[in-house]
Amino acid sequence: MHVIHPKGWELPESAATPEDVFFNRRKFLKSALVVGAGAGLSSMVPLSAARAATDPTAQFYPAERNSAFTLDRAITDEAVSSQYNNFYEFGSHKRIAAAAQALKIRPWTLTIDGLVEKETTIDADSLIGKMDLEERLYRHRCVEAWAMAVPWTGFPLADLIKLAAPLSSAKFVRFETFEDATVASGQRQFWYPWPYVEGVTMAEGMNELAFVATGIYGKPLPKQFGAPIRLVLPWKYGFKSIKSIVRMTFTDERPVSFWEQIAATEYGFWANVNPDVPHPRWSQAKERMLGTDEELPTQLYNGYAEQVAGLYSGMKGEELYR
Ligand code: MTE
Repeated sequence: MHVIHPKGWELPESAATPEDVFFNRRKFLKSALVVGAGAGLSSMVPLSAARAATDPTAQFYPAERNSAFTLDRAITDEAVSSQYNNFYEFGSHKRIAAAAQALKIRPWTLTIDGLVEKETTIDADSLIGKMDLEERLYRHRCVEAWAMAVPWTGFPLADLIKLAAPLSSAKFVRFETFEDATVASGQRQFWYPWPYVEGVTMAEGMNELAFVATGIYGKPLPKQFGAPIRLVLPWKYGFKSIKSIVRMTFTDERPVSFWEQIAATEYGFWANVNPDVPHPRWSQAKERMLGTDEELPTQLYNGYAEQVAGLYSGMKGEELYR
């Protein structure tokens, strides 16, 4: 198995855009107080006082729900979805929530590099504080045929891409998860090609559905969900929605993702949900909703064909659904 060793992702000061310059590329209308007061929002468990005291972003939740994103099914119970997670860094089973608490998410930085006007490293709390957060109800379909429906909080990936100011030569965005085997026991399993890597085309990244989640159920993202920042691509199988991102690289080369390195015939680059294209080892026709016995028919592009089918029209010779 090919193992990628982490490259130093801290940039020399001279190569980086200062944080204030980065954020001044756009006028931020948001005021922490206005958002913190939040009206008409999702039903959710209140933040614990301790968490609110230690998390400077806690005041931004819950964020206002964007009513453009609706569901055809009930929201999955938080008690269920938060105890059934895929996060191989903490184990190759679903009960990783307790182990994931070892992840230190402060301080946390996101490095933006590659084909951009200027490479930069930004603090995750500052990023969350400066973006216009909103809540979206999305379906989530894992390649393993389980599904959930959850209220994510975050901001469009397109907003972050615009801030990053990629060069016109950029064709893909590659994302990378943290690497620290001292806290993530799964990363001691050397046969996996750590760090977890994912990627999208620029057009996919700019699509209105592509979302950077910083929260869920009206609260900052718990660690098992991929705190402090993760991707959410609801029309693709869940493995594309990479967690706990530390680096975002603009490139002209198609990234080879974690699962693609492990088994390219089973997990490809595109991974668009399609009930009619079975996984080599099981059917994708139906999905089991977490916390219920319900089996629902899987929908093309997980029900988001209207927003994304156009991204793939005319693409020939690509395995779009694996
Ligand atoms: N990101 C990282 N870094 N590591 C992972 O193991 N698993 C993926 C994805 N993102 C994974 C990851 C898979 S297979 C799925 S289905 C979703 O996260 C699960 O997200 P959830 O635990 O929030 O439901």
